Amino acid sequence: MAQLWGGRFVGETDKLAYKFNASIGFDKRLVEEDIQGSTAHVFMLAKQQILTEEERDSILQGLREIREEVKAGVLEIDDTYEDIHSFVEAVLIKKVGEVGKKLHTGRSRNDQVALDMRLYTRRRVRDTDALLKELLTVILAVMEENLETYMPGFTHLQKAQPTTLAHHYGAYFEMFKRDRQRMADIYQRMNYCPLGAGALAGTTYPLDRECTASMMGFAGPTLNSMDSVSDRDYLIEFLSALSTVMMHLSRFCEEIIIWNSNEYQFVEIDDAYSTGSSIMPQKKNPDIAELVRGKTGRVYGALLSLLTTMKGIPLAYNKDMQEDKELSFDAMDTVESCLVLFTGMLRTMKFRKERMAASAMNGFTNATDAADYLVGKGVPFRDAHGIVGKLVLYCVEKDTSIEKLSLEELQSVSEYFGEDLYKAVSLKTCVEKRLTLGAPGPDAMKHVIEVHRTYLAGDDFGGMFEKSVLQNE
Ligand code: ARG
Repeated sequence: MAQLWGGRFVGETDKLAYKFNASIGFDKRLVEEDIQGSTAHVFMLAKQQILTEEERDSILQGLREIREEVKAGVLEIDDTYEDIHSFVEAVLIKKVGEVGKKLHTGRSRNDQVALDMRLYTRRRVRDTDALLKELLTVILAVMEENLETYMPGFTHLQKAQPTTLAHHYGAYFEMFKRDRQRMADIYQRMNYCPLGAGALAGTTYPLDRECTASMMGFAGPTLNSMDSVSDRDYLIEFLSALSTVMMHLSRFCEEIIIWNSNEYQFVEIDDAYSTGSSIMPQKKNPDIAELVRGKTGRVYGALLSLLTTMKGIPLAYNKDMQEDKELSFDAMDTVESCLVLFTGMLRTMKFRKERMAASAMNGFTNATDAADYLVGKGVPFRDAHGIVGKLVLYCVEKDTSIEKLSLEELQSVSEYFGEDLYKAVSLKTCVEKRLTLGAPGPDAMKHVIEVHRTYLAGDDFGGMFEKSVLQNE
């Protein structure tokens, strides 16, 4: 196989070494970005009179054909080439002849791959953001409909205080909103163009790096050519943000699995997102939720792997960095499919509202409110806490709950209890009285929902997505 760098060599590459070194098996997915980068490069070379206009036009024509043929599936990416860059260049030379050999003027594969990876990652950051937005839309719809769907709130997985489904989902809204903010933040920091850095020290040609950067919708060119070819921080940041997305999805899945269990029966996962057992006919398992939870591990793995790969690499480019691709691609694909499936599962999941409310009724979730009631009657909180503790103990012995006790029973524990206690510890009152911003009380929730609506209707990434003049080139 002809290599781009064959000139200096006399001997053949060992077959296994060639295979070991080659990246085309996985970097073929960068074909669109590779063509986009070459297109910008060639435009700029002609503008700087490094290529003639005729040379530019025939190279661009060749690149255009390659793009169309790959898209149409007519041109198959040949796995015998070393990498996608070699493949595109070789096909170009076959198509347009000698002039194709001028494409790589003033460029190295080091700045080329740095650019391709950045363009590709930038697109995936944006795709991930769109999927997160879709998920937030589904979460918000559930919130809007469930301001009065009562359920127990937990600490230590023990019933703690009553809350609502809207409030519980609202916690996940915050998490996935922060995930979107991380996407925007990464996008902004990574959006600088490394093309023109050459192998490591720039080039002797008068390249216009501002021009190529703006053609591809970057905020500007990078400022140090060594860093440009060696930097994979943006990928590490993306993998870290993806790991956080998975951590959030995994926590949500864990709750859904618990809610879907026989003991809880708070929710019913739709048949479309459940599977059965080969032996137990009664089973309907939450496999999709379990798989999303399970796949979190491989995304964390990609982050750890790349951090470790990068930690010992001296400046500038070293082949170790080719290891940035496979695991990153896998992580990006994994998160994308998890987001799509999870959103579908959430959209179709049914709630058993009576069971949720019944569960919130028992387990003394209103004990804090009973203590607050006593405080309202002038009892210091510490004493109120002790009185209600005794009351709970009494209920446990009698296998009953606070609101079921008779007034005499209540008053035998504290004279401060009156008829109005029953209303004060009802689920509705317990929730409605939680009126601080961020709490489940309906007025506080309505305000937050309004904030979320405005947020989702606003510009994605504050409208900073790139406008690449090459998008349809
Ligand atoms: N396949 C390589 C990578 O992914 C492309 C860059 C090759 N550059 C080099 N000097 N060998 O990193």
